[in-house]
Amino acid sequence: MSPPRIRNSVFLLRGTAILFVLMLTAVDSRAANPDGAGHPALMPLPAHLEFESGSLRVSRDFSVAFPSQVDPRIGRAVDRAVGRLERRTGIQFERPTSTDAAQAALVIRCTLASAPYPALGEDESYSLIVAPGQARLDAPTTLGVLRGLETFLQLVRQGPSGWSAACVRITDRPRFPWRGLMIDVARHWQPIDVIERNLDGMAMVKLNVLHLHLTDDQGFRIQSLTHPELQEKGSDGHYFTQDQIRTIIAYAADRGIRVVPEFDVPGHATSWVVSHPELASAPGPYQIERKWGVFNPVLDPTNPGVYRLLGDFLGEMAALFPDPYMHLGGDENNGVQWNANPHIQAFIREHHLQGNEGLHTYFNQRMIAILDKHGKRLVGWDEILQPGLPTSSVIQSWRGTDALAAAARRGYSGLLSNGYYIDLMQPAGQHYLVDPLPASSTLDATQRARILGGEATMWSEWVSPETIDSRIWPRTAAIAERLWSPANVRDVDDMYRRLAVISSELAELGLEHLSSREKILADLGIKKLDAPEAQALRLFAGIVEPVKGYARGKCQPWMTQLLPLTTMADAAGPDSTPSRGFSRSVGRLLAGPAFDVRRLHSLERALTGWARIGRTMSDEVVKVLPSLADSGAIGRQLEDASEVGLRALRALESGRAPTPDRTLAEFAVLDAAAAHNGAAVEIPALPAIRLLVAAAGEQNRRTSLGQDAWRRLVEERAAPPRPAR
Ligand code: ACM
Repeated sequence: MSPPRIRNSVFLLRGTAILFVLMLTAVDSRAANPDGAGHPALMPLPAHLEFESGSLRVSRDFSVAFPSQVDPRIGRAVDRAVGRLERRTGIQFERPTSTDAAQAALVIRCTLASAPYPALGEDESYSLIVAPGQARLDAPTTLGVLRGLETFLQLVRQGPSGWSAACVRITDRPRFPWRGLMIDVARHWQPIDVIERNLDGMAMVKLNVLHLHLTDDQGFRIQSLTHPELQEKGSDGHYFTQDQIRTIIAYAADRGIRVVPEFDVPGHATSWVVSHPELASAPGPYQIERKWGVFNPVLDPTNPGVYRLLGDFLGEMAALFPDPYMHLGGDENNGVQWNANPHIQAFIREHHLQGNEGLHTYFNQRMIAILDKHGKRLVGWDEILQPGLPTSSVIQSWRGTDALAAAARRGYSGLLSNGYYIDLMQPAGQHYLVDPLPASSTLDATQRARILGGEATMWSEWVSPETIDSRIWPRTAAIAERLWSPANVRDVDDMYRRLAVISSELAELGLEHLSSREKILADLGIKKLDAPEAQALRLFAGIVEPVKGYARGKCQPWMTQLLPLTTMADAAGPDSTPSRGFSRSVGRLLAGPAFDVRRLHSLERALTGWARIGRTMSDEVVKVLPSLADSGAIGRQLEDASEVGLRALRALESGRAPTPDRTLAEFAVLDAAAAHNGAAVEIPALPAIRLLVAAAGEQNRRTSLGQDAWRRLVEERAAPPRPAR
């Protein structure tokens, strides 16, 4: 299948002189904000979008005409949409909402029902025209109606004269056909209500694949009827029954979302061999793994029993999951058990296999034979791509766009997940700029068509049902935009502007990303504090971020699957709004031709507040809540770093550069403020404060060097020492 052709611009300039004048007057904000600040926040941005003047009132008599005879999913989607509008507006709409086209506020037209279960590459296009008298949503199939309804809901907002939908002309279709979210339900169990509310979130931002990572070392999360010992011994009783899976699949299909299951083999297999130690590559017994990392247990591909069990089990799963794709993992077999097993090594020699990789391919070929019997195609992580793998397999790349492109050159379809690892606590802006098909790609048209899209991956070492929403949302909306919208939609500031609005609309669905922090702070004891200390704790949790990458395991080595996730790292979010605002403002301060004194003063106010918050954490909060000692220590670091920043700002304002020794001493304070501890949080504004210190020290060279060279010098000076973490 070929990806949809995308026009170069998100805008179609219409030819009327009046509109042209309007656009000229708005040219600045449009340059910075593709859909224009002041307009409703759409995410993902449609392929073609023109805002027009005026709006369609949304009041009590709001009604919808829709072709209920085409597909019952459309009626259900309209019902849900009206329910969400009621929740947002507080208006109770008249029921039934359905009416004839002449009367309706929104007229939906749809030619054909999509298949009851969505398929890869199905038409998801739609057009939406909102005029003051009526809105019209046209789509060739059900999926387009579902996508267009979400866009319509994003247009409805409150103004001085009530609720209305902004007037627009939109034609829209996705850039990539596979836009997914993977949820790991193995490491930390995530029950069905978590899955359903996240399916609602996915539908809102037009994601269309839920990938359930169902088995791993820490849990076997699916009921097998042929081998019930798998979930009985491998799950602590936490698994999806087959009825629940059918419920999830129906719920997803109603929203135009496919469900792709993953059963990770032959590695990541501890939870399989708890009940079947005879199938492992080393003698057992085995227990469910409670910690995180890459472990040794791996199935023995030389054992016929492995194929009997997997034959039964995958046959059962093939009947349960309608999707034609089945993910068999294949990642991170560390080779320890295979290397140590003489029988396995002899098998490799006798069968002339290329080492352990060759044995993995042998195993995959037998898996593919099983999948073929059931009409399924194999999906796996990069590691499955070994010589001899049939090109019908799909590669999901956690290694990166180069690996994905190399696979595409060899004829494999692929999905990008490297760069979309939302468990690593990177800010949305970083994920947003990662593109499955970067502008630098040298793939030809046929190869490009093999890049099916990508998936955000919610690995669950550090998420519980209480915190998972705050790790998935709102950042995944930015990834969803990357996968749906034209490649040239890349303005990070504008993305964040829209993301803030989309985040609150995601909360309307019942997602808990905005409410979970306060619950964790309650667990941490915030109600035992007096008001000023409680407020300092709340603000502190909003300024710091969880440590990035895989650092949390080093900060909290005592953590296991069985402990609750209610630490400061769980209360903090990966994308601190005040810290990002501060860093952006420092960037602007240093970019201008002269220091903007008003900006400088506003940065001073921010740092003065942070110093006070940090001091209150370290001096007052820990007195009442001694278990927050580590957070108190980070509070002290925040205070120290803020004082450094304040001294730099004062030096900039006075025009007097500190001595080189003084500057070095300030950097030493900031190095110390970057140390991690058991709170597993860090101060994301430190790089910006380092810039201020460097700028203060080098301010006398600004005029002689010129702005650009000076800015480069400051960045060089500010670069932190290589962390010894
Ligand atoms: C992976 O991150 N091991 C797929």
